[in-house]
Amino acid sequence: MAKLRVGILISGRGSNMAALIEAAREPGYPAEIACVVSNVASAAGLEIAKKAGVAATALPHKDFADRESFDRAVSAELEKHGVGLVAMAGFMRIQSPWFPERWAGRLINIHPSLLPAFKGLNVQQQALDAGARLSGCTVHFVTPELDSGPIIAQAAVPVLAGDTADTLAARILRQEHRLYPRVVRWFAEGRIALNNGRVEVAGVPQGATLLFSAEP
Ligand code: GRF
Repeated sequence: MAKLRVGILISGRGSNMAALIEAAREPGYPAEIACVVSNVASAAGLEIAKKAGVAATALPHKDFADRESFDRAVSAELEKHGVGLVAMAGFMRIQSPWFPERWAGRLINIHPSLLPAFKGLNVQQQALDAGARLSGCTVHFVTPELDSGPIIAQAAVPVLAGDTADTLAARILRQEHRLYPRVVRWFAEGRIALNNGRVEVAGVPQGATLLFSAEP
C-alpha cells in the first residue's frame, strides 16, 4: 500500500521533526516524510532534514505581504510534494484561517501541555506558576482558534519539586518524541476519525492515546 506522505512545518530546532523522520525510516512504518517547510531560514531543523535526505524549504514569512499569502505559498509547497497530512512541529507562525480550513482534518500539531490547560507560549512556566502537579503534551487537530482543536492523544509527566521551565520542558519533550510518531502512524493507518468534533482512534489498545511516564 502507498505510504501516507507527510509534510512537516517547523520554525526551529526540529527535534519532533527528527523523531518523525526517524520513525519513518522503519520499513513497516505507514508514512513517509515528503517535505519540511520552515518560516525561518536559519532553523536548525532544515539542516537535519536535508542530511536525512528530506526535501527541506525555507519560506521566510517576511517575504510575503500578509499572513494568507504566506499560508498559500506554504500550502503550494506541500501540494507540490503530494502531502496528505501536515504535521506542525514547533511551527511558530500564527496562520490565517485560510490554512486550517484548506487542510481541515489533515492538519495536526504537538503542544507541550495537557490541553486545554496552558495555551500559547511559555506553557511550562505557566504550568509551574499554576502549581500543576501533572503536565505533558498533546497532539491535536488544528482549527483556526489557537491550541484549541480536537485532541487526538496526550502524554502526561509529573511536575517535580525543583523543576524549572527547562527541566519540565525536557521531560515533556521526551514524551513528545514518543507520542507524535504514534499519532502519525494511526493517521496513516486510517484509524483516526472525527465524530461531532471529538476524535475516535479505532483499534488501538485502550489507553494508547494517553501515555504516562514517571521518569524524572
Ligand atoms: C515542542 O515543545 C513542541 O511541542 C512545541 O514547540 C517545541 C518544538 O520543539 N510546539 P522542536 O523544534 O520539535 O525540537
